[in-house]
Amino acid sequence: MWKKWFSRKRNEENNKSFESLDRGRIPKHIAIIMDGNGRWAQKRSLPRAFGHRAGAEALRSIVQTASEVGVQVLTAYAFSTENWKRPTDEVSLLMSLLSDYLDNEIDELDDNDVKIRFIGNTDELAPILQHKIEKAQTRTAQNVGLVLNLAVNYGGRAEITRAVKIVAEMVAQGQLRSSQIDETIINQHLYTNDLPDPDLLIRPSGDFRISNFLLWQLAYTEFYFTHLYWPDFKPEHLLEAINEYQNRDRRFGGLKNIKPHNAK
Ligand code: IPE
Ligand code: IPE
Ligand code: MG
Repeated sequence: MWKKWFSRKRNEENNKSFESLDRGRIPKHIAIIMDGNGRWAQKRSLPRAFGHRAGAEALRSIVQTASEVGVQVLTAYAFSTENWKRPTDEVSLLMSLLSDYLDNEIDELDDNDVKIRFIGNTDELAPILQHKIEKAQTRTAQNVGLVLNLAVNYGGRAEITRAVKIVAEMVAQGQLRSSQIDETIINQHLYTNDLPDPDLLIRPSGDFRISNFLLWQLAYTEFYFTHLYWPDFKPEHLLEAINEYQNRDRRFGGLKNIKPHNAK
């Protein structure tokens, strides 16, 4: 089942980085803000559309590599709740690229056991795209390999607002007391409720912000920024990011090798 991807020839450089990873400390969940497509195209005096096409291609190879190294969840930010501010042509192009991505990749993703999921308000997308999304999710629902979470019409604030509304409704219906609301309850009503929080966030393009991505889930995530534009982000850069992640010291507010004050 994995044959297709695992049999791919890796170049020597990649192979070295691949071998040097600590297999026991691969981030379970990597989140990526796929940014810089427009600037990538601009640098080449091309229309922005070319950058978006190249960006979709970059996602393809990153999904493969993430799957090969044993990442469990890859969440890719494809379209934010704020991206509706872009010109109509660009929004339409982004939507049709998403649709093409599903058409072109679904067989290979399914063959490689990838489970496709969407986070964000997909109800606001064109019905034909919603249908494709539904089909892709249903077709791959039983797959047990990499979870590919595509964030489309996603905003962290919108996600938290949605969770608050659901919880408020439960309180209004008498299914829950307000005193019972805790982080677990909020978490249960996020799109990512059954997934671990991201261990590593990657933002290419040279901008150092999170642009309304996974606001709740990134609380203790390690951030990795690079000046590369997303279409230039290749498998070797993913391996580099994972390698740097493996050298980070994650303390989660505690101290290393010290028994916590509140340990049971
Ligand atoms: C990311 O690339 C794609 C989306 C936001 C949908 P951009 O289109 O934001 O590229 P830049 O930031 O203008 O270079
Ligand atoms: C973030 O990029 C959203 C996606 C990559 C989908 P933007 O280009 O929209 O973010 P800003 O506007 O630079 O913060
Ligand atoms: Mg951008």
